[in-house]
Amino acid sequence: MSAPTATHLDRHDTIRAVTYADGVLRLLDQRELPFTEAQVECRNAGDVAKAIRDLVVRGAPAIGIAAAWGVVLQAGLLDNAGHPISAVTLRSTFDTLNAARPTAVNLAWALARMRAALAATGGDPLTTLTVEARAIQDEDLAANRRMGEIGASFLGDGIGVLTHCNTGSLATAGFGTALGVIRAGYAGGRIAQVYAGETRPWLQGARLTMWELVRDAIPAQLIADSAASHLMKSGAVQWVIVGADRIAANGDTANKIGTYQLAISAKRHGVKFMVVAPWSTVDMATKGGDDIEIELRDPAELLSISGRRTVVDGADAWNPVFDVTPAELIDVIVTERGAIEKPFDRGLAKLAGAQG
Ligand code: MRU
Repeated sequence: MSAPTATHLDRHDTIRAVTYADGVLRLLDQRELPFTEAQVECRNAGDVAKAIRDLVVRGAPAIGIAAAWGVVLQAGLLDNAGHPISAVTLRSTFDTLNAARPTAVNLAWALARMRAALAATGGDPLTTLTVEARAIQDEDLAANRRMGEIGASFLGDGIGVLTHCNTGSLATAGFGTALGVIRAGYAGGRIAQVYAGETRPWLQGARLTMWELVRDAIPAQLIADSAASHLMKSGAVQWVIVGADRIAANGDTANKIGTYQLAISAKRHGVKFMVVAPWSTVDMATKGGDDIEIELRDPAELLSISGRRTVVDGADAWNPVFDVTPAELIDVIVTERGAIEKPFDRGLAKLAGAQG
């Protein structure tokens, strides 16, 4: 076990899902991975909102970052047309972006930051918005590197870990949250083997997390979501490490559907459970998990695989894409401001007060 250097970690930080330059936002199309690396170009806020809804870009921090750039794109169009850039002229832009997906609070958080920057500007509003979007993106990358260090320090030596969904570079500005801890843990010798749940129905684990892990040559095996309890019973994993879409003030955590059952099983098998998320995912205005809106997506996502129907015609499906893990099932929440153990309400309030 050794402390990973920045150079070690740079080797694990080569993917960028969201890039902005000269009035164009380029998104690595996550619907097409792992076999096609295509870019979708967005030139206005409507393009960005559609890309978020259609999961071209996904993952809580990444959708916040994309939305911030969506505001910049629309402000640029107003400017080019000789219109003023203001809270009034951008109102429908903010509303459209905010409505794209409901569960991840990073979206509303990023838009609130953009709104506040615009309100406070004393200079050119387009420059102000561009600087703010860039800051949101850069700060997320720095937070991920920091959380990698903090989270990895909780792990043992040469252990096995299980993760769910995709929380890597594709879901963030780079490096990742839970996957960032896994990257740092592997680079430092604390993690020897990673297991990734395939994450039905959209297959974020199979298509995206395995793509990132194979690129980084981190030893990883894909499991069917339904193999998780059997895996934990075997003793092969000591930690479950997941990301979050929204962490309520009491520590209840919304994340990809299936996370809750992993937490129940982890408790049953004596496996530790870690949530890793930047502070932008913490929502102190939401008291508990019952107050978090869970996105319901098109049942069609469950009725077919890769566009091929697998269920009898006439069948219906229920497709909630997030669930809430109660705080009592979580051992540690890692943010860039520090790690928190129970009682989470006190720890979160302290970190909010310290720097919020
Ligand atoms: O529907 P998705 O793919 O956007 O869901 C993503 C997740 O649930 C992630 O675990 C979460 O956003 C954290 S990403 C760092």
